[in-house]
Amino acid sequence: MSVWVTWPALTKLGTLGIFAGLLTLAAEREALLKNNLFDLENFDGYNAQINCDARSLTARTEDGTCNILSNPAEGSALKRFGRNINPAYTQGETTTLLTPNPRDVSISLLARDEFKPATSVNFIAASWIQFMTHDWFHHGANAVDDPITFPRPANDPKGSGTMSVQRTQPDPTRTGADAGKPRTYRNHTTHWWDGSQLYGSDKATSDKVRSFVDGKLKVNADGTLPKELISGKPVTGFNENWWVGLSMLHQLFTLEHNAIATKLKQKYPEKNDQWLYDRARLINSALMAKIHTVEWTPAIIANPITERAMYSNWWGLLGQGGPRDDFQADVRKLQEDLAKSDSFVKRILGFDPNVAGSIGNGSINHALTGIVGSTAPNNAGVPFSLTEEFVSVYRMHPLMRDNINVYNVGSNQVSRSIPIQNTRDGDAENILNAERADRLWYSFGITHPGSLTLNNFPNFLRDLSIPLVGNVDLAATDVLRDRERGVPRYNEFRRQIGLKPITKFEDLTKDATTLAQLKRLYNNDIEKIDALVGQLAETVRPEGFAFGETAFQIFIVSASRRLMADRFFTKDYTAEVYTPEGIDWVEHTTMVDVLRRHNPQLHSSLVGVDNAFKPWGLNIPADYESWPAANKQANLWVNGALRTQIPADQLPALKKTDALGLLGSILWNKVKTRSDVAEAGYKKPIHAHGVMAKVKFVPTGNNAYTGLFKGSDYGLLRLSVTEDPKGKDFMPGLAWKAFVDGKPSENVSALYTLSGQGSNHNFFANEMSQYVLPEADNMGSSIIFSAVTLKPTLLLMNDFAKVTQTGAAVSKPVAPTQVYFVPRSEVRSRFSTAAHDFRQDLLTLTEGTKLYDVYATSMEIKTSILPSIAKRYATERRNSAVKIGEMELTSPFIASEFGDSGVFFKHQRNEDK
Ligand code: HEM
Repeated sequence: MSVWVTWPALTKLGTLGIFAGLLTLAAEREALLKNNLFDLENFDGYNAQINCDARSLTARTEDGTCNILSNPAEGSALKRFGRNINPAYTQGETTTLLTPNPRDVSISLLARDEFKPATSVNFIAASWIQFMTHDWFHHGANAVDDPITFPRPANDPKGSGTMSVQRTQPDPTRTGADAGKPRTYRNHTTHWWDGSQLYGSDKATSDKVRSFVDGKLKVNADGTLPKELISGKPVTGFNENWWVGLSMLHQLFTLEHNAIATKLKQKYPEKNDQWLYDRARLINSALMAKIHTVEWTPAIIANPITERAMYSNWWGLLGQGGPRDDFQADVRKLQEDLAKSDSFVKRILGFDPNVAGSIGNGSINHALTGIVGSTAPNNAGVPFSLTEEFVSVYRMHPLMRDNINVYNVGSNQVSRSIPIQNTRDGDAENILNAERADRLWYSFGITHPGSLTLNNFPNFLRDLSIPLVGNVDLAATDVLRDRERGVPRYNEFRRQIGLKPITKFEDLTKDATTLAQLKRLYNNDIEKIDALVGQLAETVRPEGFAFGETAFQIFIVSASRRLMADRFFTKDYTAEVYTPEGIDWVEHTTMVDVLRRHNPQLHSSLVGVDNAFKPWGLNIPADYESWPAANKQANLWVNGALRTQIPADQLPALKKTDALGLLGSILWNKVKTRSDVAEAGYKKPIHAHGVMAKVKFVPTGNNAYTGLFKGSDYGLLRLSVTEDPKGKDFMPGLAWKAFVDGKPSENVSALYTLSGQGSNHNFFANEMSQYVLPEADNMGSSIIFSAVTLKPTLLLMNDFAKVTQTGAAVSKPVAPTQVYFVPRSEVRSRFSTAAHDFRQDLLTLTEGTKLYDVYATSMEIKTSILPSIAKRYATERRNSAVKIGEMELTSPFIASEFGDSGVFFKHQRNEDK
């Protein structure tokens, strides 16, 4: 039997299966709350000195005291970490502390051989979690005296000798009364989820970050944070382990605090600085907690069961309004099922949650009522603290990349690659200012963190220079810390938190090299595997999980408890305490909103992005069609074309029809087939290569036609050639997509003739039309065209006449029968007729260039099997055509993978009229 948890398989059973999984997790959490919370602190002595004043009733205090009024020291700064594991099993290691050699573990099992990305999330997710951990915990500066010293292993590329790691700062509050307790350590930040990384965990720090004007935090005129004189790091609540990702987040949420304060000041002009600051802090902290719960976590553990578990943590499945509504129908289904005697859910769970006292009863109530907004804080009978095991599972250093690749907003071309060690400490603010926040956010949004696996620990962190300490191997340190602090080794850890222990190394991985290293280092003894190593080695993971089930077990209990125990997320998460505007701000703001508010330049890049922590790119959400024309154009242009731009010197060869690489899975995963975007993997069977630009159609005076013929400001124009099967004729073509507010776009394609224009490679040598004469002798082309419904050779533009660009239906549409795109004099003879790559010509055309005069006729399209007569009809029609407008570029042309294989121009065929 597998040692791994089985609930993930329940997702295969549909909605009820998912809910059964959710109930299983809820039951698991109940068990963990009952069996896996251990408090090591003595609060009484502290409480005697704490006076909870009137302010503290409705505000978070600087040091986290007075959250729990009956035990005011609970959760405050400089209180001990608790435990999730029975203290009997958490005595710090002594005799085994150095076995196996932590540096050997670092070299053999942790060192990154090649960067292994976690492709389901973006790099913002990595900096975010470090940002969160800095709110939650810090063990304080390490002890200078008596470091742990050990020999370098024989395989150390740095040679022989010894190395040392400083010990964790000991707990100075231990007294004889603590005898028998495991080693204790103090959390130097507040244990609460209270934004202490921004606001500090003591009054002096808080005073430094506040401006004392209108409740705001200190920000320079240009939106940057004030810097510390010597270190160059920003003045903020917590600034250790600093790098540019943290600079970005601290700046962003400092600005968010000030935006909240501004809103409050408008609404409550009579309130003083302290009142405004306290409210803004409450609101900003709750916003960060909500973003973490319903956005970051579902991105990093993207599984339908855990996604719902997280939503229920914040919203409660029986809540009302907004995103809660999405769950109502599902919950009703579950309730109906549970009421049945042959309940499907009960059967698969193997227990009856409706029977009083059964394991599931309380869990179900809990899952169904949610936590936030519940009536009283609930610490499950154990004073709230974060735990050593919680700290341990968040040692997620493999998330770090080696380099930050900086891109211009919208582009896929790396403009600068910066090794992350060059973005640390004082350099962070300089880089943020030089590269600009919007470009860095975009760059983080489209790149991936490392995956949480073995041999993926960034090497710069394995040789990390720390001021006043020297160079540190953080991988070896991480391994040692667990041993030092008494976090049990992997298998015991699993046993103690209700998971099955592994029975053989092969349970973890099938990889022969890794197995050999594991067995060598741990002397063939599975009980010796370090907690961190075992977690990174877990290859069986619940679907969608960026980490394994061992870490997840700690999350189940901690994620809920951080909310459940806190007065400001339960009893006092109310409009009275937060203000109505505050509750509204928390409930209706997402990370995307925060990014947009402070980086307007990211507007287009964030169009369609529903979770800021998942890779940004082209998203075509379900409501795409209802968007304004301008947004649809921006989305396809910025997130489609610009994002996959092909540099002018790397254009794919024209001759090959199948040379296109598919767009990366990043882009394709979420692209749903809609009329503007082709199905993933689509390749244009003809016109495979071209260039695309944004375009507008400017109508002349009062042309006779209706709908989009009266003007289209938001379009895409793609110019391409058909690969001539005979390999000699130049066959240009055009495709125009006109976006419509709230409705599908209209599309038309045009050619010169089916057989092209011979050896003339000037793209603008001839006019093009949506109707071309059939050519009996051009069998090759006809066969190809039939594949894309260009046969018959007539496309209609009737639908263009039926709708205006604002989406209004035209009551009496008037459409031309034939339209001609006539190259204007400024482009007609601008380019060479000799054989060359036409795309290079088009790439030189700039925004504002007028390409075509558009002519149209209403004369009936008559055909004849006699080519000479058909030709005469065509000439008559052309002669009757009048100019109805101009096509003008609203961007330069670019080549892109999206333009070549992503964008889809629907043809309105004769049969579709
Ligand atoms: C450039 C990026 C980073 C640097 C320079 C860095 C540096 C450090 C250092 C120096 C320590 C203390 C080691 C010790 O115990 O002596 C540490 C601890 C830790 N780091 Fe990082 N880190 C980085 C990124 C991250 C990220 C992305 C995470 C993700 C969650 C993370 C989570 C942690 C945790 C949980 C600890 C333990 C804290 C404690 O013991 O209180 N770090 N890091």
